[in-house]
Amino acid sequence: MNIVLGVTGGIAAYKAVALARLFVEAGHEVHVIPTADALRFVGAPTWEAISRNPVTTSVHEDVPEVRHVALGQRADVVVVAPATANTLARMTAGLADDLLGTTLLATRAPVVVAPAMHTEMWQHPATQDNVAILRARGVHFIGPESGRLTGDDTGPGRMSEPEEIFAEVRALLARPARVEPEVAQEPPAPMDLTAAFDGVPHSEAIGLAGGADTAALEGKRFLVSAGGTREPIDPVRYIGNRSSGKQGVAVAAAAAALGAKVVLLAANVDEAVLAEVAENPAVRVVPVGSAAELQSAALAASSGADVVIMAAAVSDYRVADVAEEKIRKEDSAGEPPTLTLVENPDILAELVHMRRPGQLLVGFAAETAASTDELLERGRRKLRRKGVDLLAVNAVGWNEGFESAENTLHILDRSGEVVANVSGTKQNTADALLHAVAAAL
Ligand SMILES: Cc1cc2nc3c(=O)[nH]c(=O)nc-3n(C[C@H](O)[C@H](O)[C@H](O)COP(=O)(O)O)c2cc1C
Repeated sequence: MNIVLGVTGGIAAYKAVALARLFVEAGHEVHVIPTADALRFVGAPTWEAISRNPVTTSVHEDVPEVRHVALGQRADVVVVAPATANTLARMTAGLADDLLGTTLLATRAPVVVAPAMHTEMWQHPATQDNVAILRARGVHFIGPESGRLTGDDTGPGRMSEPEEIFAEVRALLARPARVEPEVAQEPPAPMDLTAAFDGVPHSEAIGLAGGADTAALEGKRFLVSAGGTREPIDPVRYIGNRSSGKQGVAVAAAAAALGAKVVLLAANVDEAVLAEVAENPAVRVVPVGSAAELQSAALAASSGADVVIMAAAVSDYRVADVAEEKIRKEDSAGEPPTLTLVENPDILAELVHMRRPGQLLVGFAAETAASTDELLERGRRKLRRKGVDLLAVNAVGWNEGFESAENTLHILDRSGEVVANVSGTKQNTADALLHAVAAAL
């Protein structure tokens, strides 16, 4: 494969050397395009030696080769790592006054960026707006992770490790080209939930027995998701999962009992399960069906939330070409139909990227694992990938986790430390989670 690696001016440029080496050792043709600022961190000889190709930053070199567009046109993928705040802004504006800028405009290949910057720069609304625009244009984001930054500070903004970027780029290149549905599907009707919390009262906090002081939750706006998404195959069938929504509903009920205002995005949750909050004025229930509906509701409502807890089980894939009519056996000429799946958006990652300053994000990881150690390791990997503040990890299997009234949660903080292990009813585990939220706030 022909890989263009754009490198921009941050300390993490040194980590891109390892990334370039991984691409070269995997047999790819690598062209490194540093910005002028990137060359102040790692010099051209290093990039030339590692990539085994000449390196320029300017559009005025190698003019006979029409290099300013040729590299982008030939590329199978363009990776920008690290991507500075400045470069994200330049990409959003479509600036083309250096070789990386022209290459990014000239390419039709997938573009992958791995941002790196201080937390304040990453969370600035200008950067977050640029990220949202680039994502909407189809740019793939990897990271940033939460962790140690250049100085003594820690927080979201650290570039993902080269091995992780390498693995994600390889997975992207291995993915079959997206199959466009023959009949354009109606996008889900946009949900205006930007003011979702308006008019939701909060009740007198009744407090939880023991543990952290939960007074911090009184009056806070909680966005909680529960249940499992359903991805339509045809008008009557879907791909789904066994999540009942009991855990997410228990979290919503417990948050309301602590004086929070709650918007609950209920993905296919039975009325019997929702009964726990149906009469509670502090909980506004918004029903959603597919991952796309959950995505649009969650992104809109999150702008007003202080705490976001994503407990719903979201399908990683959806059917590429949803049949307009029921798929019938007699129409299939004896051949079973083949379903082509495409990847769903990563809602949790989008929420992390769009988070407002001070917003706390909690993810859930339901995993099958042979042991608690393996379960926690899988949870820690997810935590590193997503950059949430807390991750509730639970084991699921044929007979545990989903559908049952009981649960076991291991709650990890941002650094991967276990802050609570709790088993019991889903009300008990919800209470423990809210203690951890109160402590993190
Ligand atoms: C020591 C040092 C480290 C820097 N690290 C970063 C960084 O990690 N992320 C970032 O967005 N900017 C960082 N900057 C600022 C950028 O270098 C600056 O915005 C520059 O204009 C980026 O240019 P480029 O995007 O064209 O490479 C750093 C600057 C210095 C002096």
